[in-house]
Amino acid sequence: MSQDPEPEATRRDAGEAESSRANRGWWDRNADEYQQDHGGFLGDDRFVWGPEGLDEAEAALLGPAASLKGLRVLEIGAGAAQCSRWLAAQGAAPVALDLSHRQLQHALRIGGDLALVEADAGTLPFRDGVFDLACSAYGAVPFVADPVRVFREVRRVLRPGGRWVFSVTHPLRWAFPDEPGPEGLSVSASYFDRTPYVEQDEDGRAVYVEHHRTVGDRVRDVVAGGFRLVDLVEPEWPAWNGQEWGGWSPLRGNLIPGTAIFVCERDESAAA
Ligand SMILES: C[S@@+](CC[C@H](N)C(=O)[O-])C[C@H]1O[C@@H](n2cnc3c(N)ncnc32)[C@H](O)[C@@H]1O
Repeated sequence: MSQDPEPEATRRDAGEAESSRANRGWWDRNADEYQQDHGGFLGDDRFVWGPEGLDEAEAALLGPAASLKGLRVLEIGAGAAQCSRWLAAQGAAPVALDLSHRQLQHALRIGGDLALVEADAGTLPFRDGVFDLACSAYGAVPFVADPVRVFREVRRVLRPGGRWVFSVTHPLRWAFPDEPGPEGLSVSASYFDRTPYVEQDEDGRAVYVEHHRTVGDRVRDVVAGGFRLVDLVEPEWPAWNGQEWGGWSPLRGNLIPGTAIFVCERDESAAA
């Protein structure tokens, strides 16, 4: 039986439409393996911000758990909606949105009384001001070519003053090989090179895309999206966590940050 050749990994430009199409296909094809590999660590109804294992139950970046009751929350790039399930258990009313049909099928498989929406984060199918909070644990933001467009959409659907908290790969990681071992500790690329990471097929079509922004870029994007930055959290690797997740590992996690969590609030002085 003939097998598809391995995609080629490269750095090259990739626009909004190409990134969205490539990532929808990648997540549809890889959702089963992703949930099999990481579903246990994520837990069906925990809210984990990233491979370090920082749990919203302790971090309270959305606010104290008791204050979430009755709030309308939009989770962007929800995957199998583990975070939304935790939010629902706190009495919130979450809507779990994802680009990938297969990821959302995993949300259905796990179950729970959740609203699931298949859509691109750059075009949110909701009226203005209908959510109190928005959140995203590594969903959508690392994968989009135009994060400001996503942030403006999030701002539009939030009520005045609403909070938007999202996690992404820590920008510093882009200067290092994405390897969990010692080879992942030597700088191999410029931190300042914003050229996207692209995997492409033999015809040069992107099949996976990630976009790099520096810390400064992310702060400027947050402000350009109409938010003010309340906090930037860099979770430390905890002693209890012995797992490797791609390039995230105890070895690297003890030396360099792996995740950046941006805590933002809708800035009412910003032009809409
Ligand atoms: C690393 S997973 C994170 C999901 C979940 N928070 C977790 O930890 O498993 C990234 C998710 O973002 C989704 N995604 C990627 N690009 C997106 C976009 N433009 N709009 C909406 N979702 C997107 C993917 O389909 C995928 O489910």
